[in-house]
Amino acid sequence: MSDLALRSVDLRKTYVGKGAPPVEALSGVDLEVRRGERVALLGRNGAGKTTFLRIASTLLRPTSGTIEVFGLDADRLPERVRPYIAVVPQEGKPFFHLTPREQVYTYLRSRGLGRESAHARTDEALERMGLTEFADRLSITLSGGQRQRTMVATVIATEAPLLFLDEPSIGMDPFARRSVWASFRALSGKGSTILLTTHYLDEAEALSDRLYIVERGKVIVNGTAEQLKRSVGGTLKVAIARGAREAEKFRSFGETVADGETLTIVVHPERLGELMDLAVRSGLTTTVGPVTLEEAFLRVVGRSIDED
Ligand SMILES: Nc1ncnc2c1ncn2[C@@H]1O[C@H](COP(=O)(O)OP(=O)(O)OP(=O)(O)O)[C@@H](O)[C@H]1O
Ligand SMILES: [Mg+2]
Repeated sequence: MSDLALRSVDLRKTYVGKGAPPVEALSGVDLEVRRGERVALLGRNGAGKTTFLRIASTLLRPTSGTIEVFGLDADRLPERVRPYIAVVPQEGKPFFHLTPREQVYTYLRSRGLGRESAHARTDEALERMGLTEFADRLSITLSGGQRQRTMVATVIATEAPLLFLDEPSIGMDPFARRSVWASFRALSGKGSTILLTTHYLDEAEALSDRLYIVERGKVIVNGTAEQLKRSVGGTLKVAIARGAREAEKFRSFGETVADGETLTIVVHPERLGELMDLAVRSGLTTTVGPVTLEEAFLRVVGRSIDED
């Protein structure tokens, strides 16, 4: 079997609808995920993440290009691929007339798992996602976050070799998100491969070994969070309150971004003293911290938007 859990080569998708202009959602995506890896797919709304996941999980056909799951062509052999994968789709909902316990159990049984293991795995997944208390209530009576937890429980219970998770922790509270992270780590510890999308960049950082940034249907970054941060020109971030109006003064220190009235600058540590001096002389208040993945993302994607 292939060393790669997932591989796409020059993957393209153009949506064509009656009476509407065609939409080129993917314009040649090359992506590889090794077995056991946890990879995050990041990008702005409409970048093409869901389109990619839907093609990779055999729910949608590409316009052209190659998509392979464990070396099998996912477009030509969807039935062979499906047993290896499990999906949390974007905006998926549990069946409203089932309880979380029934939802998870039924799904496992439909995948061919025996009664005993299905019961055991159902209990474990519900417990992991903090659903034990709500396990026997109809999904329709659950809160939004509890329903989303049910979706995640359903998929982690499969222990499938390759999991596709499209914004799995959306709407979850910070505790629930951490349970999701712990579950994904445990699964990848057991050998599962994970490809997820998220707009929570702290989550991407906490969870992924590597990340891709997609912008307008193309990969613009492939690397670790650390590499991405380094690529934006420094590891420290200085936020200058009310500094946005005086951005010009600070340009020479690094890339500046105005966020409301606040100006943030990414700097190399060796230039920090000089920058602080200038800020103090200008009567401005500064806060210094490490560069976050979110800042690096804003800069890298921002640059790419500017170039177009
Ligand atoms: N069924 C469809 N028909 C036509 N265009 C579509 C369809 N589905 C998606 N698109 C378009 O394809 C592009 C990519 O959409 P996609 O859902 O893959 O983005 P995304 O990266 O998942 O965004 P988000 O972060 O908002 O979930 C967008 O321009 C979107 O409007
Ligand atoms: Mg999406």
